[in-house]
Amino acid sequence: MKTLSTQVVIVGAGPSGLLLGALLHKAGIDHIIVERQSGDYVLSRIRAGVLEQGTTDLLDYAGVGKRLHAEGLRHDAFALIFKGAFHRIDIAKRHNGRHMTVYGQTEVTRDLMDHRMQLGLETVYSVGDTVVLHDFDSEHPRVTFTKDGEACEIKARFIAGCDGYHGVCRASVPAGSIQNFEKVYPFGWLGVLSETPPVYHEVTYSNTERGFALSSLRSMTRSRYYIQCGIDEKVESWSDDRFWDEFKKRIDPDAAKRLVTGPSIEKSIAPLRSFVAEPMRFGSMFLAGDAAHIVPPTGAKGLNLAAGDVNVLSKAIIEYYQEQSKAGIDHYSARCLRRVWNAERFSWWFTSLMHKFPDTEGFGQKIQEAELDYLVNSESALHSITENYLGLAH
Ligand code: APR
Ligand code: PHB
Repeated sequence: MKTLSTQVVIVGAGPSGLLLGALLHKAGIDHIIVERQSGDYVLSRIRAGVLEQGTTDLLDYAGVGKRLHAEGLRHDAFALIFKGAFHRIDIAKRHNGRHMTVYGQTEVTRDLMDHRMQLGLETVYSVGDTVVLHDFDSEHPRVTFTKDGEACEIKARFIAGCDGYHGVCRASVPAGSIQNFEKVYPFGWLGVLSETPPVYHEVTYSNTERGFALSSLRSMTRSRYYIQCGIDEKVESWSDDRFWDEFKKRIDPDAAKRLVTGPSIEKSIAPLRSFVAEPMRFGSMFLAGDAAHIVPPTGAKGLNLAAGDVNVLSKAIIEYYQEQSKAGIDHYSARCLRRVWNAERFSWWFTSLMHKFPDTEGFGQKIQEAELDYLVNSESALHSITENYLGLAH
């Protein structure tokens, strides 16, 4: 058995694990990342792309903000469509210039991977499903796995579970020590990425009698669009033509006329789920990001919540080593969960407001339209939605 030692072993090289690694390294704390997939596979996953200012500040601090500032798009507003009409919601003017940045999660991941490569930090890729956690109820936890047929062990002081919703870390906690809270929605999102100019230049959420649609972008020549679809639908039954026909019916008529369509470069269906595991700390093991919680993508909070966790966790571990204090690690779970539940509430509310629900069709649609009408005409409601969209403090 090959044995290595480090201070923190991070399971998962998604955005949470990579960002935690960058922050620990900056503070002089050793770590090793172990990842199920190859680096190329991790980079092939297309995810959301709207970053809060707290997230871009953290990426800057970690030393990976350069391309984000050069290529990311500053967004001062988003928009809502209902009853066929378009309403622009200005965020920045209500919150002293605070804004969002549109920059794909795939690009954040690429920047973090390049940064790791430049620093020569160790990432063990392609370990498949072989990771096993040991003794995390003690101060001497270990992680074992198999790499290229060789049995390996890493001894550490802490384990960071950054291995996403389907990871091994949360699954290793005894059932009696963890509580899961979950809501599954009765629909999915069909997403398309295409090399076409975006029909709206700001992220635009549509409520229609046919269901929800979202218009987003990655650049002025690349669009990211979504439509609400049935939970059991297969992506193969959605040709590009069928997607564009349906999408056009869910945006305002002027936009439908100017919409530029083209071949999809990515097309996939994702289920919508709200999920929180409590607590987020088990002895020497900490959950962060999707390993601990999932939000439905309406509102784009997933990656921002992950960044918030990693910020708190890195500070807690740094405090442990630099000040010999356990206060940060003892407060990690409660500090994160407060912010997580705030974002869960917002994402659930925004999802409920914008989607067509099978059980409340006619009445539900009218109630949603009444709430949206109130929202766009009430300064206090607009202040509240934009405050939540910006993200509550990290
Ligand atoms: N062993 C090692 N690695 C694993 C294991 C395992 N048993 N299980 C999963 N992983 C890896 C996955 O392959 C993936 O690369 O953990 C990583 C988890 O990454 P993500 O799922 O991207 O989760 P996270 O890093 O928390 O990212 C936050 O924000 O916008 C949201 O869902 C979106 O992924 C995004 C998330
Ligand atoms: C995206 O650009 O993929 C995106 C934007 C806003 C969301 C979700 C996803 O709420």
